[in-house]
Amino acid sequence: MTKESLPEIKDARTPLGAGVLLAIESSCDETSASVCRDGKILSNHIANQTVHEQYGGVVPELASRAHLQNIVPVVDVALQQAGVGMNEVDAFAFTQAPGLIGSLLVGSQFAKSLALAYNKPLIAVHHMQAHVMANLIPERRPNFPFLCLTVSGGHTQIVVAKSASEMEVIGETLDDAAGEAFDKSAKLLGLPYPGGPLIDKYAKEGNATRFAFAEPQIPELDFSFSGVKTSILYFLQKESAKNPAFVEENLVDLCASIQERIVSILLKKYKLAALQTGITQLCIAGGVSANSGLRKAFQTMCDEAGWEAFIPPFEYCTDNAAMIAITAYHKYLVGDFAPLWSTASARATW
Ligand code: KG4
Ligand code: ZN
Repeated sequence: MTKESLPEIKDARTPLGAGVLLAIESSCDETSASVCRDGKILSNHIANQTVHEQYGGVVPELASRAHLQNIVPVVDVALQQAGVGMNEVDAFAFTQAPGLIGSLLVGSQFAKSLALAYNKPLIAVHHMQAHVMANLIPERRPNFPFLCLTVSGGHTQIVVAKSASEMEVIGETLDDAAGEAFDKSAKLLGLPYPGGPLIDKYAKEGNATRFAFAEPQIPELDFSFSGVKTSILYFLQKESAKNPAFVEENLVDLCASIQERIVSILLKKYKLAALQTGITQLCIAGGVSANSGLRKAFQTMCDEAGWEAFIPPFEYCTDNAAMIAITAYHKYLVGDFAPLWSTASARATW
């Protein structure tokens, strides 16, 4: 599509009334659609792709093919659950970036086609901003400016959310993301992908102080997880050489100790960020914010410091279209629409 070949859909400054939005998320391996009315989420349907389990990680080509198969039924279910017909939708939103380009293209082309067919505005959403905005879905929500620790499979960031459209990353990982640290550690323990939720599950029965893994010394608000992974690798190699059943016999304590180390790295920097900025409303977001150890330790940290903790419900932590819908709703209110020739992008700046 070129700019010249496409009609102008709507003037960005057209005053808008009550809005029904359909949002699509397809940046990685979850196909999701959500409907919201006036910022209230009416549905949030997610189709997980199990095809990647056998490969130990997301295979981009398989992900985009699965999105193609899922997108129509997922959108249908989201509309049905919301009790909304396609012709009632006032604007169509999609995840523009960052993510796997083939996966992003499926959702973006689908949303653009709907906007064109129904002659309605299109809204492009930044996936990482949407994770932050997931904290505005529940009734109890933070006021701007607030801090957010966004921890997912591809990112680890401390963000100052100044408004729905203005966010600043003040700390981030220099190597692996927190989710990668969980998944790669799980792989070393012989657990299937994605291993993060399994480490969480086994950690509940384990002793978190049994094994001490390396703690990185990184200045300021940035993170590093590659050293932790290496220290786990060398430790397991050494112990397994002495006892081949070491991992099996100590699985729950290993999981608890790994989780404890990752969570302590995250919260040490998050606490520093709160002290440095003086912001006292703190949120967490992204797939790793579903981790029960992180949720508990984060709440305790905030209670002890007298800060307000905001933790999104589980369904809004991992990738989902409701977070795209709530972000789109804030853009819709100010007429921040995307042209039909806007493209998806694997990388994104803030
Ligand atoms: O936000 P997300 O769904 O997708 C990305 O944008 O990356 O995050 C996925 C990541 C994976 O690394 C997964 O293992 C991790 O979140 N994750 C968890 C838990 N649930 C999901 N990690 C630790 N504990 C969990 N309960
Ligand atoms: Zn994500």
